[in-house]
Amino acid sequence: MYLCGMSRKTITAALPYANGPVHIGHLAGVYVPADIYARTLRMMGEELLFICGSDEHGVPITLRARKEGITPQDVVDRYHKIIGDSFKDLGISFDTYSRTTSAAHKQTAQEFFSNLLEKGAFDVQVSEQYFDPETQQFLADRYIVGACPKCSAEGAYGDQCEKCGSTLSPDELVNPKSALSGAEPIKKETRNWYLPLDRLQSEFLNEYIGSRQNWKSNVLGQCKSWLNDGLKPRAMTRDLEWGIPVPVEGADGKVLYVWFEAPIGYISATRELRPDDWESWWTGDSEVIHFIGKDNIVFHCIIFPAMLHLRGDNYCVPSQVPANEFLNLEGQKISTSRNWAVWLHEYLQELPNRQDELRYVLTAIAPETKDSEFTWKDYQTRVNSELVGILGNFANRVLVLLQKYNNGVIPEVSDQAQAWMDASNYTWSMEELWSKRIAPIAQSIQEYRFRDAQFAMMELARYGNKFLADLEPWKKVKEDPDAASAVLARAVQILYNTALAMEPFMPFASQRLLDQLNAQPSA
Ligand code: 2FM
Ligand code: ZN
Repeated sequence: MYLCGMSRKTITAALPYANGPVHIGHLAGVYVPADIYARTLRMMGEELLFICGSDEHGVPITLRARKEGITPQDVVDRYHKIIGDSFKDLGISFDTYSRTTSAAHKQTAQEFFSNLLEKGAFDVQVSEQYFDPETQQFLADRYIVGACPKCSAEGAYGDQCEKCGSTLSPDELVNPKSALSGAEPIKKETRNWYLPLDRLQSEFLNEYIGSRQNWKSNVLGQCKSWLNDGLKPRAMTRDLEWGIPVPVEGADGKVLYVWFEAPIGYISATRELRPDDWESWWTGDSEVIHFIGKDNIVFHCIIFPAMLHLRGDNYCVPSQVPANEFLNLEGQKISTSRNWAVWLHEYLQELPNRQDELRYVLTAIAPETKDSEFTWKDYQTRVNSELVGILGNFANRVLVLLQKYNNGVIPEVSDQAQAWMDASNYTWSMEELWSKRIAPIAQSIQEYRFRDAQFAMMELARYGNKFLADLEPWKKVKEDPDAASAVLARAVQILYNTALAMEPFMPFASQRLLDQLNAQPSA
């Protein structure tokens, strides 16, 4: 097993499916925490790449294309743009936002498959799959519909009943029909390439997962449950048209399994971005960290590491996979098919220039250890009482006082006044401020506790408000102008540090504050 050096980081965020826009559940679970992490590490001077892109293959995309009477490429072109633009507008600071229909990805995914094939990593198995005798094609589970064996609802899919939520296999459906032609599907033999996960479990995965002591317990819990049940071989190729062709003679009509090639998309995106040294970000000195939602755990913690392990050649297996749970909306599960979601692109249109408010609220309620809940009432309360009441209030007080008493210029502080303030019972030295208020923010972020980190950032503003209330510069300005100057100068330092600490969470407001202070992030 190659866990790789820790000198620089390759940070990835799950590639969203380009068959619909992203919603607040995706943001709270994956993209906002990943961005906070990447921004923090960048500020700390770490060398990193932050990688994402659209996942543009898979059966749901072909289903949507059929429904709309357009091609799968039309579908992914549309959503790749919507998703990419909305991430940018929200300030998600990817170094690249690529896509899995790119030429670089096709090449990288096919090379990866061929490499494993040459190493004898796959088992070829013949199995019986459903086949549509009218359209003469194999049917993915989603393309078979029938009555649900559990709740009797019509229109259940071969992999799931959307009415009762049961996971199904096509064999269980009552009266199965092809969604393409309505014909009764028949079984037909087909040959596919399987990853022998059962063998890989004893050879590699038990030890890999067993030694991940610092992973989140929700992630480890799911991995261990998969391992306890015993892994089974899984097909890495499928009989479908939409996807990356299997690079083997005679494998016409077969494509790479979307969960085989999608994670390779992280590598392809790195290759496009850094043509000269892309491979070094996946081997040797780099540490790989995947931000994902809980439905992706098995793919990133078990299947992709097994592929990387088989690839060998110093390829790194992920060192951390800080997966989150799910976000619910107003008491119900977020659902794309029922259109129950707050869509990012619509939020950005309807509430322009309110990116930081959304980032803040989603971080405050992030489903880090269990499912959590978004409500508009809670959004309103947090914006009014926390962002306006604490942070905005502190910034406003400092800037107004500075303008009123010293024409917006940071006052000179006499040695005597400085000594008085340092000795005051009400205030901390800058060193104390650092160790008690600022260092804990970075510490929490490095431990993937983003809610705690943001709370700690707000504590800095709370401290600033208390500092002003205790030392009352508006009174001192008459009695002891020297002391008032010392308090104001220190208040500006606290505000400047608050603005810096805000950057990973609320980059827009942070920049506005730094501009108002006429300061640069590195000043
Ligand atoms: O669950 C999803 O949205 C998948 N498209 C995530 C893929 S992540 C990676 F493997 F590409
Ligand atoms: Zn059902």
